[in-house]
Amino acid sequence: MSSTSLPGGTWTLGDLTVTRFGYGAMQLAGPGVMGPPADPDGALAVLREAVALGVTHIDTSDAYGPHVTNGLIRAALHPYPEALHIVTKVGATRDPQGGWPPARQPAELRRAVHENLTNLGLDVLDLVNLRLGDAQGPRPGSLAEAFGTLAELRQEGLIRHLGVSNATAEQVVEAQQIAPVVCVQNLYNLAYRQDDALIDALAEQGVAYVPFFPLGGFSPLQSAALSAVAARLDATPMSVALAWLLRRSPNILLIPGTSSVAHLRENVVGAGLALSDEDLAELDKIGR
Ligand SMILES: NC(=O)c1ccc[n+]([C@@H]2O[C@H](COP(=O)([O-])OP(=O)(O)OC[C@H]3O[C@@H](n4cnc5c(N)ncnc54)[C@H](OP(=O)(O)O)[C@@H]3O)[C@@H](O)[C@H]2O)c1
Repeated sequence: MSSTSLPGGTWTLGDLTVTRFGYGAMQLAGPGVMGPPADPDGALAVLREAVALGVTHIDTSDAYGPHVTNGLIRAALHPYPEALHIVTKVGATRDPQGGWPPARQPAELRRAVHENLTNLGLDVLDLVNLRLGDAQGPRPGSLAEAFGTLAELRQEGLIRHLGVSNATAEQVVEAQQIAPVVCVQNLYNLAYRQDDALIDALAEQGVAYVPFFPLGGFSPLQSAALSAVAARLDATPMSVALAWLLRRSPNILLIPGTSSVAHLRENVVGAGLALSDEDLAELDKIGR
């Protein structure tokens, strides 16, 4: 599928065409991203609605739950429509306190890839991100052993494409020396713009940048300037934040998370909001 009515159009990840408007499944697990959702039928409905709206990019991880969101995705959508591409990530696990300890030893990564294949009901994973750093953000250090393991799994035919997440710019370059990198998934939004230079560099290379927490994650984006623009446009701050990301750079793909069908629909409409140059100039000041 190369066309879509979703805002932003499509992007190509390696040989996979995806809608720039995607869906992030993390919010479907229980509180603290642990355990099952309070409303499992509601979670399945969100996933089915995403696909019904034309979304062809779903972001997930077996760390969500753990193993909860992948099970929901399989229950809601398997056998998957041909156009749908599920992007997962490996490199972190969960502890009983809900923490996200790293799991980047070669044996841990191999096990995680096989678990994702089983839990999603797939023979090949379309795209696997290596999650680096920790809950506080990216951390410097070589990814060679871990990314090399994923590159081997790709050579073995279990993964089509690779990406990195929670990565420094140096780690992106190191990964690219090991195997092709089709996307970088880092924390970025209207108010948190640490990766501005990285986004521009990736855009020049045709590599996708997928901001996580596009709406602020667990603490919604709040800013007087954002509220002012939203009020002027008779829109919500969420809509403005998503529309701004699509305008920020053509290589940005959206994976806003929600556990609500109504919010999902709102976000699709909101991301299509037209922003004037004046709006953009005002919004641009927020994160700088
Ligand atoms: N690579 C990584 O390390 C990493 C880390 C975090 C997340 N991620 C990925 O990034 C995706 C997006 O991040 P996220 O889901 O944590 O944060 P987010 O998309 O920034 O925000 C999600 C929050 O916004 C709320 N929300 C969404 N749409 C709304 C609307 N229209 N009106 C009001 N509230 C709305 C959701 O609540 P409701 O459920 O009530 O709508 C939820 O609390 C995740 O799903 C996950 O796939 C990756």
